[in-house]
Amino acid sequence: MNTQVGIVGGGPAGLMLSHLLHLKGIDSVVLESRTREEVEGTIRAGVLEQNTVDLMVDTGLGDRVKREGLTHHGIELRFGGRGHRIDFDELTNGRAVTVYPQHEVLKDLIARRLEDDGDIRFGVSDVQVHGHTSDKPKITYLDADGNEQTLTCALVAGCDGSRTSTRGLIPETTVRTDHFRQYPFAWFGILAEAPPSSEELIYANHPRGFALISTRTPEVQRHYLQVDPDDSVDNWSDDRIWSELHARVDGEGAEIKDGKIFQKSILQFRSFVCEPMQHGNLFLAGDAAHTVPPTGAKGMNLAIADVYFLSKAMSEYFATRSRAGLEGYTDSVLPRVWRTQHFSWWMSSMLHRLPGDTGFGHKRQVAELDMVTRSVAGRTLIAENYVGTPLG
Ligand code: PHB
Repeated sequence: MNTQVGIVGGGPAGLMLSHLLHLKGIDSVVLESRTREEVEGTIRAGVLEQNTVDLMVDTGLGDRVKREGLTHHGIELRFGGRGHRIDFDELTNGRAVTVYPQHEVLKDLIARRLEDDGDIRFGVSDVQVHGHTSDKPKITYLDADGNEQTLTCALVAGCDGSRTSTRGLIPETTVRTDHFRQYPFAWFGILAEAPPSSEELIYANHPRGFALISTRTPEVQRHYLQVDPDDSVDNWSDDRIWSELHARVDGEGAEIKDGKIFQKSILQFRSFVCEPMQHGNLFLAGDAAHTVPPTGAKGMNLAIADVYFLSKAMSEYFATRSRAGLEGYTDSVLPRVWRTQHFSWWMSSMLHRLPGDTGFGHKRQVAELDMVTRSVAGRTLIAENYVGTPLG
């Protein structure tokens, strides 16, 4: 089997890349280790930047997100028991974010790829890329029935998430540098059948720790509590979760509405960037190349931004045989990756309780939040980065 672009991984980066390439007349095959049901059922992020929604709409994926997505024109930063609104409309000239779960984006992408006769192989295993620095890379894998298969292609995209195997093909130290940062906290996330507690997301800084009030649909809410990285879901009864959410968020203008919790999980926090994101004919995109902590809701949006630029470079190559765009891929995306790393780190460090803090750290955070939210420039900085700086 032969194709133009072999794509390892069928998450947001891999599927969007395959879709964008198809629109430019380029063939690809997507290899995904999970089944279609697993891909479409895994609960992940939920907030789409303006850029992501615009790209979906502009490339014919916009029907459901426009109908079912919840447009948010601001967020609330809560500290000192009071809310402080960041008004996206006013501060970014009408840009907004849309709450629409990642697995719904994946359902839309898969449906569209299949309608367009796209080739997605689910349930594959033992995926190995060979000869990525030659002009005839090859990917071997076992298909869902366990049969050995070989895919030859001109270019390979490593879109296989944070547990990537493709990143390891870029030789460490001689070519590749990994930048890594671990945080001393984690998020305990719940999904609950409950009415919305707030019209907009609330990011709460509280001496007991951070809390985030988010949503999925008018009937299902998504909330998070800062916990220790080695905490376990077993330590958290439903009562304990609700009373901690009330303690951290309730106050002037906010009151959490309880409901039936049906999913609990712990998310670790890390920042990671690998440089460069290309080696020969292998190109990394999304979490295979970088991870951001979830505080700015950036992970999936950054993956989509990567493949937007990667698809342009690849289509220039197939149209002209010029490698300029391919060789410039890392430089075209890394500044955005690092700006996003900074924003996610900044939001995280401003909002979370710092272990071992004697009180100075919290006072300093409140002063920073006060400074930022009082100033139009400060609020604009948050708003612009939250809705996402334009891709163009
Ligand atoms: C979510 O709804 O899952 C969510 C929202 C905002 C974030 C992170 C996660 O910053």
